[in-house]
Amino acid sequence: MNNFTYHNPVQIVFGKGTIGQLASLIPAGKKILMTYGGGSIKQNGVYDQVKQALAGRARLEFGGIEPNPRYETLMKAVKICRSEKVDFLLSVGGGSVLDGTKFIAAAAFFEGNDPWDILAKNAPINKALPIGCVLTLPATGSEMNMFSVVSRDSTQEKLAFANPQVFPQFSILDPETNFTLPERQTRNGVADAFAHVLEQYLTYPANAPLQDRQAEAILLTLTEEGPKVLKQPRDYAARANLAWSATLALNGLIACGVPQDWTTHMIGHELTALYGLDHAQTLVVVMPAVWKHQKQAKAQKLAQYAERVWGVTGGDQAGQAIARTEQFFQSLGMKTRLSEYGIGSERFEEMGERLARRGSKLGEHQAIGKKEVIEILRLCGPLGA
Ligand code: NZQ
Ligand code: ZN
Repeated sequence: MNNFTYHNPVQIVFGKGTIGQLASLIPAGKKILMTYGGGSIKQNGVYDQVKQALAGRARLEFGGIEPNPRYETLMKAVKICRSEKVDFLLSVGGGSVLDGTKFIAAAAFFEGNDPWDILAKNAPINKALPIGCVLTLPATGSEMNMFSVVSRDSTQEKLAFANPQVFPQFSILDPETNFTLPERQTRNGVADAFAHVLEQYLTYPANAPLQDRQAEAILLTLTEEGPKVLKQPRDYAARANLAWSATLALNGLIACGVPQDWTTHMIGHELTALYGLDHAQTLVVVMPAVWKHQKQAKAQKLAQYAERVWGVTGGDQAGQAIARTEQFFQSLGMKTRLSEYGIGSERFEEMGERLARRGSKLGEHQAIGKKEVIEILRLCGPLGA
């Protein structure tokens, strides 16, 4: 096992009716800016619950944060934070609202020229506004981590940053708020969380049996609870298990001391930036292709995963692992080929170029550069292939 530091300061408040605890979670006297998305919270009662919990508190609102939050929109909120002297941000919605809020929190105190440098140039963040979260969509794990992914229209980029200053102080997870999720978002959430575990697990053996088994436990839980929720959207127990699995999939715990491979996410972000596919839609197309390309290097972990998660004990275990994963994604109702989205190979070269330009090679062995990215994209089943 490699050396590691693990620090996670996020307080999780989990369960039915927990939004009512907001007033005690946000320190008295704070001027709050509540951030939200396109309006789902107004339709499902979450907005009213928050409003009631914070009655009598100084509160401004900023709505309209898009899925794959846009820098252009977020900068409007940064302006409000500065002019209104906001001193607490409350994100109410899915991962996009929270990621956007993390960016707003850091940008509000940014001293350089353009806060986009936080994403594009890894500019330092010395201070950020405190953040609280009411999460309405289990998927990203953003509620218990320090990551944020932001898109910029003008350059068609989708970039991530990580900084301990943007850990939420608390996240409220009430699984009842997930009852109103459209099926597409529910299945996206299952697939995203599943992919998060695999990006931290499916590399090579690192003498980390505990982390391996923690990862496998999350994967198995997702394979059981995901389909239940799709069948019974108001099954509270299944929603709750799904929500907690998604949080643990990317809160840093299973990453302790093990190699990671975020190739699928990096290529996926390019597909979202250029074609507008949902985040999880990109992952289920790209991940099997990455594994096919890296089958030799990942053979041992693919075999372990085949056996422990899918019960495959003999034959071509690595090949079976890939096939069973694709079947699982398809069983959720997801497309696993670029051709199904009408996407061809026209921009593969450009995607490979963009990723290569950003610096170090991808993969647990840093073996994936421009050439390999293009080869992987060709394995994603482009139109006409
Ligand atoms: O905008 P509203 O109206 O709120 O509707 C949203 C949105 O249209 C809707 N929704 C959310 N909760 C709902 C609901 N509809 C009905 N009932 C509810 N309870 O769902 C739609 C999608 O929301 P979004 O926040 O975009 O989805 P998700 O949580 O999957 O977030 C995706 C974003 O997170 C990033 C992705 O790249 C993408 O930009 N990621 C962030 C990570 C992190 N911070 O650690 C890691 C991930 O790998 C991921 O990259
Ligand atoms: Zn993801």
